[in-house]
Amino acid sequence: MNARTGETATVPGYQSGFGNQFASEALPGALPVGRNSPQQAPLGLYAELLSGTAFTAPRDRNLRTWMYRRRPSAMHEAFARIDDGDWRSGPFTEVETPANRLRWNPWSMPARATDFVDGIVTIAGNGEPHAQAGSAVHVYRANRSMAGRYLVNSDGELLLVPQQGALRLHTELGRLQVAPGEIALLPRGMRFRVELPDGEARGYACENYGAPFRLPELGPIGSNGLANARDFLAPVAAFEEDTGPVRIVNRFMGHLWEGTQAGTPLDVVAWHGNLVPCKYDLARFMAIGTISFDHPDPSIYTVLTSGSDTPGVANCDFVIFPPRWLVAEDTFRPPWFHRNVMSELMGLVRGVYDAKAEGFVPGGMSLHNCMLPHGPDAATFERASTAALAPHRLDDTLAFMFESRHVFRPTARALAADNLQPGYDAVWRGFQPARA
Ligand SMILES: [Fe+2]
Repeated sequence: MNARTGETATVPGYQSGFGNQFASEALPGALPVGRNSPQQAPLGLYAELLSGTAFTAPRDRNLRTWMYRRRPSAMHEAFARIDDGDWRSGPFTEVETPANRLRWNPWSMPARATDFVDGIVTIAGNGEPHAQAGSAVHVYRANRSMAGRYLVNSDGELLLVPQQGALRLHTELGRLQVAPGEIALLPRGMRFRVELPDGEARGYACENYGAPFRLPELGPIGSNGLANARDFLAPVAAFEEDTGPVRIVNRFMGHLWEGTQAGTPLDVVAWHGNLVPCKYDLARFMAIGTISFDHPDPSIYTVLTSGSDTPGVANCDFVIFPPRWLVAEDTFRPPWFHRNVMSELMGLVRGVYDAKAEGFVPGGMSLHNCMLPHGPDAATFERASTAALAPHRLDDTLAFMFESRHVFRPTARALAADNLQPGYDAVWRGFQPARA
């Protein structure tokens, strides 16, 4: 790797950990020692703080990073509004929220040249940025790398779930490459651009307006299990050389704004802190399940959680259903019929989801909002009710769920989409009344 420019032929180096303190420098001696903002930072760099929590947040929740850069990021021209495309934001009141279960086929790839910003289409959301509560769930589809412009999201952090094609994320703190089966987390306020090493890409994104995602508490599980902190990888410092004026696209209060600046915002030569972009391979999730009987609540599959003011009640949880063994005795093994106060927006990265015989396909989504009954379809019910209960490994599957205390309100665009499946309710027809 070229230390000055951070150019890499393959995948950059990473540091591991989540919520830990990191330090990294792309040039020797660039990182101040013993103080954060010396009178003169090394190499003539500018010291700049990015804080992801209130200054006075408890120590174990406090997120901030010090950056040492070639220009202060304040050095940009005024932002002006640009078109939002299909990117929507709270309060998500453009259409009434249907009292229906909804399911979508995959969104097709764009026909025209489209970068990551232009290719975002919002499916549903809740809350709103100014309240710092709720989230928006998007699908991104892109066939062109971002060129000459960089995105910063002032409204929330971005949790990216690639479904097709890798993303190379060039961020202020360094580079991350994520492929389907991995996720990336980009902190609120961090500048970045997205390259497409595979030429095109599609995936899901959660724009979290609320408390930053963190690992869930483990309670009686103990000190190991589910997602382990060491498997979250942060980049090493890398910076770009200037190639002329660039545009900064700022997502602010639910709209896109754009301004210019003289050179790249990815000019951080050294940094230290715990507010970092990171990636995580979902194959490293240690799934836990029953070894006796009955179906545990899906909260055991929580990868990351964004809490709310009420303990145990999430603003948004990111939950996965990975390949795993099913061994429960005398148990209906797929998800059972249920109605929950929490609302569930699901996607499928690959394979088949065990609660549905058909119709929920990779790249698609399903929405089961607060108190709307759902569960296995009739074919799945029949199969799982009569199956011989030998140990069985679920392979070729990677489903996930964004689960929230707030009802997900679909956008007008998502409700009018030609890939919205008509007649989803028919999935639950065909159950015979019990003999009793
Ligand atoms: Fe559910």
